[in-house]
This record gives sequence, structure tokens and C-alpha cells, in this order.
Amino acid sequence: MRIGTPISSSATRVMLLGSGELGKEVVIALQRLGVEVIAVDRYADAPAQQVAHRAHVVAMTDGTALRKIIEAEKPHLIVPEIEAIATDMLVEIERETLAEVIPTARAAQLTMNREGIRRLAAEELGLKTSPYVFASTVEEVRAAVAKVGLPCLLKPVMSSSGKGQSVIKSENDIGKAWDYAMTSGRVAQARVIVEGFIKFDFEITLLTVRAKGASGAVETTFCEPIGHIQVDGDYVESWQPQRMTPVALKKAQDIAARVTGALGGRGIFGVEMFVAGDDVWFSEVSPRPHDTGMVTMASQRQSEFDLHARAILGLPVDTTLASPAASAVIYGGLDEPAIAFDGVAEALAVPGSDLRLFGKPESFKKRRMGVALAHAADTDSARANAKLAAARVRPVSTSFHTQKVTAS
Ligand SMILES: Nc1ncnc2c1ncn2[C@@H]1O[C@H](COP(=O)(O)OP(=O)(O)O)[C@@H](O)[C@H]1O
Ligand SMILES: [Mg+2]
Repeated sequence: MRIGTPISSSATRVMLLGSGELGKEVVIALQRLGVEVIAVDRYADAPAQQVAHRAHVVAMTDGTALRKIIEAEKPHLIVPEIEAIATDMLVEIERETLAEVIPTARAAQLTMNREGIRRLAAEELGLKTSPYVFASTVEEVRAAVAKVGLPCLLKPVMSSSGKGQSVIKSENDIGKAWDYAMTSGRVAQARVIVEGFIKFDFEITLLTVRAKGASGAVETTFCEPIGHIQVDGDYVESWQPQRMTPVALKKAQDIAARVTGALGGRGIFGVEMFVAGDDVWFSEVSPRPHDTGMVTMASQRQSEFDLHARAILGLPVDTTLASPAASAVIYGGLDEPAIAFDGVAEALAVPGSDLRLFGKPESFKKRRMGVALAHAADTDSARANAKLAAARVRPVSTSFHTQKVTAS
């Protein structure tokens, strides 16, 4: 593997599609290895764009516009950071060998739609999942609920971070759940999955890396399992390692190896699973770094972002855990652009703590604006310290109006 000089004709160029907080860390990892990075997102000054060599603003579902940027920038690698991308265009780019899509265009295509990945996992690979039925009308949802049983979940097939997702506890909830899915999905598509509710002990993300080994062939390596807590389908806290039985761990690694093997290519994958005792259910997979994996910036020798950068460049990886650690999300708490953060010094005074403020230009009450990290002797202490550090960071308004109110 040869790496050139950035901003020269010898440069190794990587284009990120999606420039959020996960992309920002991928860019930093790539920059450290002397890679030239181009960051694309639908809005200006997105986190990863602030640390990239160049940035472009475009609707990433607009295949024609995206292709123009790719033709002009001529990246060697295209790295999707989000799900909502014109993946048909990526398939074309890959077929014409204009660039290599990470991990593969097909992986991006299958995982952007719950139907693609669920049918692959459950029907082709035979992995254990929740019972499920896809539906396109409210009548079909009623039939699906009767089939999978109550309680169950209804999710738009194209959605992430729990958007448009509801729990159906009785038949009376069906109408409301359907309406919510139809108004909150990523694209106007009347297609949902109805999933039986799994009563798990805990859920994990098993970060799985496909990278070139010493022989030159792609090898699969696992990080220690990450435990996490989701509120309304959005992650609020994660820790590593999550303890599980040897039987469950073996099952989880088998599931992760099979699903990532079927998707192919190189890079890191976040395989989400539910665990109860020795039982493990496959839930979904991201063919890219995972938000719950931000904890690895405090827990591993090489974070999930370092691992992704190395794997996609064809370099060796090391998934060793350095210390138990935890992460806790910092929300905006305000609907405003250009907010500020107080309490940073107090947060960083927590033992073993660290902080990432993403630099997002606009805050929303429920927008993830930062994350607190903490390493400690065990995950319980790490969780307590990460939560304490996160709570000490206070988003504050910088608008004239609010300042006047505070002063009076
Ligand atoms: N079948 C299920 N049974 C129990 N909990 C579930 C089920 N599906 C999803 N969840 C809960 O909702 C969260 C978000 O669901 P997920 O399918 O991962 O959606 P997203 O793509 O938005 O992350 C999961 O992490 C889990 O906590
Ligand atoms: Mg998920």
C-alpha cells in the first residue's frame, strides 16, 4: 500500500459521503495517515467538512449531482457515512471502476433499506432475528401485527435513529403508528417493517473489521462487545466491554462474521444484536463506524475510526481493548444556531474523562452535539463518570435576545 502527498498529483484521495461527527473522526484518522480528504454533505460546515481538505454541499440522494462531484474530484475511495445516499449511482461508479466504494456499493444499497438487509440476514443467511412482516398499507399492517403478535414495533424501511418508529402495544395503536411512520420516514415511501418485540437482557454493537491480514487476504476481526442504551431509538449511553456468556459471544461473532462476509469489501461494520442469556438475535448492521462505537476513542488502542481508516486503505488493524470505558451523549437542548458550551473545564475535571464537541453549526433540542467519554477500572465507574462529565457540559444560547433576558 502506497500513500501519496495530499494536494498533489500523487495524493491518495478519499471522499466521504456524509460529514457528521463519525465522519469527522474518520477524516482526522485519514489525515494522520497523509490522505487527501473531500467531505460531502447536504449542509455547509458539517463537522467532517471542518477538518477535510475540501468540502461540497449537495443533496446526497441526487445521484446526478453526486456523480458530477465524483467525476471532478476523482477519489480513489468513496466512503458512505450515512444511509440516505443515491446508492444506485454508487453501483454504477463501482461497475465503471471510477472509484472503490467502501465496503461495497451493494452493502450500501442493502443496508439503506431495512427490507434489503433483513431479507439477506434472515432469509438468505438463516440468521436468527425477531419475527417480521413487511407492509405497504395500514390493512397489511393489521395482518402483520396479527402474525408477529403483540407487543411489536413498526418502523419505516428507510429511517435511522429511531425516526418514525413506534411500539404497538394493542390494536388501537396501529393507526397512530402507521401515520407516524408515514410522516417521519426518510423518503415518502409507504413501506414499513413490523417486528415482534424481543425481551432482551441487553443489546450490543459488535464492531467487526474486515481488513487485509499478513497474507494479503481479507480477515475478520472483532472488537470487544459494546453495550448501549437507546431512548426512543436513539443511543444515549454506551460502554465497552459488555460482559456476556461465552456461548452468546461465540454466537454473536458467528452472526457478525456471516453478515459482514455476505456484504463483503473492507472496513468496519457495527453489527447490532439483542442478547438474552445464551440467545442472540441479529437486529441490523451499519457498513461503517457506529455511533455507539464512539466509546472506542477512550477504550481501544485504535478507535473504530482508526480501524476504518486502516482497513479501507488496506493496512493492518489492531482491535485490542486498552481499558474499560463509556460514552454519554450531549444533546443541544436548544433550537438555535451557533450555541456555546459552558462547564467544559468542570466536565474535563472528571477523572479519566474526555470530550468531543462536534462543532455542528445549528443546535436542536434533541440533536447530538457532543459526547463525553471516560475510561476507568470497570464499566460501572466509566459509565458514572461519562454521565457526570456529559451533565457538566451546559449548552447555552449566544443570541442577543437571550443574553438580554439573562442580564435583566
Ligand atoms: N424487535 C425489537 N425488539 C425490541 N427492541 C427493539 C426491536 N427493534 C428495535 N428495538 C429497539 O429500538 C432501537 C432502534 O431500532 P433499530 O432497528 O436499530 O433502528 P435504527 O435503524 O433507527 O437504529 C434498538 O436499538 C432497540 O433498542
Ligand atoms: Mg439501530
